[in-house]
Amino acid sequence: MPAPRTVLLTGAAGGLGTLMRDLLPAYGYDLRLLDLRPIEGEPDAIAADLADRDAVREAVRGVDAIIHLAGISLEAPFEKILKANIEGTYHLYEAAREEGVGRIVFASSNHAVGYTPRPRGDDPLIPVGTPRRPDTFYGLSKCFGEDLAQLYWDRHGLETVSVRIGSCFPEPTSVRMLSVWMSPADGARLFHAALTAEHVGHTVVHGSSANTRLWWDLTSARALGYEPQDDSEPYAEKLIAEQGELQDGNEAHAYLGGQFVTDPPIWPY
Ligand SMILES: NC(=O)c1ccc[n+]([C@@H]2O[C@H](COP(=O)([O-])OP(=O)(O)OC[C@H]3O[C@@H](n4cnc5c(N)ncnc54)[C@H](O)[C@@H]3O)[C@@H](O)[C@H]2O)c1
Repeated sequence: MPAPRTVLLTGAAGGLGTLMRDLLPAYGYDLRLLDLRPIEGEPDAIAADLADRDAVREAVRGVDAIIHLAGISLEAPFEKILKANIEGTYHLYEAAREEGVGRIVFASSNHAVGYTPRPRGDDPLIPVGTPRRPDTFYGLSKCFGEDLAQLYWDRHGLETVSVRIGSCFPEPTSVRMLSVWMSPADGARLFHAALTAEHVGHTVVHGSSANTRLWWDLTSARALGYEPQDDSEPYAEKLIAEQGELQDGNEAHAYLGGQFVTDPPIWPY
């Protein structure tokens, strides 16, 4: 596969999209931007809803690959998740198939497996093949996206790397995040690896930095050529002093999905 150059970035106005707009061009990508919302300083960005199949098809035409970040990124009523995350992702995959785009990097989430108990003590790291245990309709939509990716690989030969992102923010802001944090620079490294690795078929990877308190296994991400450079540990002392260690009796500390397992799921998590 020739290295992709023109890449459609969906969800480009969002938090992660904004970080990647800053970081990915240094890898040589020419980004085409799409979002529901206009993006300040980006007059060429495509303002489109994933519900608009014609607009989505036009947006993917001629790109080498897609990084798919667009969608609802928190828990929401099922009908909203259905439209943006489930139908919207289906529209994107159909458009990619119709236009012959060979590779998608799909922003999946730890919330696809959010009811997985967090490892404690000497427990092994969570493998990427751990059973799906979505913690929300949001997490369920990420399970759908991963399965859609598998279908489009098996049936149509369209490759995907599904990245189960932990928390990608400039700094970790909670004790939980010390385990699942992905620095923006590592996020760009991982997306670059996911865009350029050969023969990925459909590969699921965990998306985080090389955190000292890591909960999950990064083997499949490293197999793509991803070499994380960051670790949340320098933030640990301050966060633990402010918030305390994770507590055994606290439901929001018991599972991978953190606050998303509580009712209602609370932000920030
Ligand atoms: N940021 C993280 O740490 C994290 C963790 C796990 C997964 N993810 C996933 O990564 C992606 C980006 O996350 P984020 O934090 O930047 O979220 P965000 O909410 O900041 O950005 C999402 C963007 O998608 C756009 N969008 C929503 N519905 C759309 C539609 N129907 N059509 C077109 N655009 C639409 C929004 O306008 C928004 O700009 C999401 O899919 C999210 O589920 C992020």
